[in-house]
Amino acid sequence: MQDVKVGILGKGTVGGAFRKLLNERAEMVEEVSGRRPKVSGVLSSRKGDFDRILARSDIIVELIGGLEPAREYVTRSLTEGRHVITANKQLIAQHGDELVAAARRGGAQLRFEAAVAGAIPVIRVVQESLGAIPIEKVFGIVNGTTNYILTEMARGGLSYDEALAQAQALGYAEADPTEDVGGADAAAKMAILARLAFGSPVRLRDVPFEGIERIKPDDLAYAKELGLSLKLLGVAERVGDGEISVRVFPCFLYPGHPLAPIEGPFNAVMVEAPAITEITMSGPGAGGIETASAVLGDLVSVIGGGSPLFEENSRLRIAKDVEMAFYLHLEVDDRPGVLARIAEILGDNSVSVRSVVQRGAGDEAQLIMVMHPVSERRFNAALKRIAKLRFLRSPPRAIRVIEEEFT
Ligand SMILES: NC(=O)c1ccc[n+]([C@@H]2O[C@H](COP(=O)([O-])OP(=O)(O)OC[C@H]3O[C@@H](n4cnc5c(N)ncnc54)[C@H](OP(=O)(O)O)[C@@H]3O)[C@@H](O)[C@H]2O)c1
Repeated sequence: MQDVKVGILGKGTVGGAFRKLLNERAEMVEEVSGRRPKVSGVLSSRKGDFDRILARSDIIVELIGGLEPAREYVTRSLTEGRHVITANKQLIAQHGDELVAAARRGGAQLRFEAAVAGAIPVIRVVQESLGAIPIEKVFGIVNGTTNYILTEMARGGLSYDEALAQAQALGYAEADPTEDVGGADAAAKMAILARLAFGSPVRLRDVPFEGIERIKPDDLAYAKELGLSLKLLGVAERVGDGEISVRVFPCFLYPGHPLAPIEGPFNAVMVEAPAITEITMSGPGAGGIETASAVLGDLVSVIGGGSPLFEENSRLRIAKDVEMAFYLHLEVDDRPGVLARIAEILGDNSVSVRSVVQRGAGDEAQLIMVMHPVSERRFNAALKRIAKLRFLRSPPRAIRVIEEEFT
């Protein structure tokens, strides 16, 4: 059998780790897949020539990141019949259609296990193991940076800025952390997962996202008091007749929820379907060697012959509204009538209150309320009116709550 020639684009954290892993594991890959992989060229920003590498390769592994020139290189590789493996979630989430069309044109495979949840084989499970099962919901913690920050804020009482600085010092957050902390990274991963789980096109613009930048130590102190955990969650679910919802938001979880104990830079993804009840997968969500191992898994699949990707058989609508429970934190003047006025606004919007706690007095007075599940649109309408009340000392803070019990 002939060797398989592998061109590697990028030799940074993942590219460097992948090259090393491939050298170490070449024999094992040959045993499993029947052909021995051989590096045909490596491209970095300063060295190597893409055209020459393409001409010499059967498989292109894209580990540059960003949209350009990664999009151009991947599209050309696929069009010219080279299989492509990538860890680039933004590329797949934003240009998935174009890349799949190029793969079809070139009769090539496109694999991207490492783009979602690092070393956890979530794409493979959703796409292959559960391929014939109608999935109801895929959700989880798909960004390790934010999970690390929230864990440290809860554990050490650190402020958001302190926890972020610590994450950067330890290499869990990039120098520019905007994509991670603002939720865009998780949104791209959820768009990919939703697309695979529901077999329906989901664009990045269909995924509203919120990050964790506005979370305060107070919110975590409250969570701790009640035994709740605060996580940045990505949720993709069927919500009604022919409708799906895909979102990213910070959220309180009740104890007993399988995602509640996931701490530090770890990721975890849950899949729910009637046939399987639920599956939870957890593990390292990033890191050079961890991500490289997912890329190597894709390489074995590609050499062994693979299945087509993004098989889309339905066109589900993106729901405009969903129901959620909310926690609401208000800093208010301590005077009569305040609670009644807030209750009136909530009532006008059919938002029903599950619990209210008043903390502090005078300049320190706070109201902490938890709502029953309600239409997000109605809750946001109420929140807009509450934000205008003159007796509020700072803008209201609302965080979603998942009350679901798991046994
Ligand atoms: N790091 C992780 O833990 C992780 C986890 C999951 C997924 N990913 C994904 O993996 C991909 C790579 O990430 P990384 O952390 O390895 O990035 P990185 O360390 O910044 O490495 C990027 C590599 O691409 C090369 N490069 C940059 N611009 C280029 C250009 N125009 N032409 C050719 N080469 C270029 C760089 O060249 P130089 O060496 O010359 O700078 C470098 O070797 C990204 O899509 C990322 O989202 C990373």
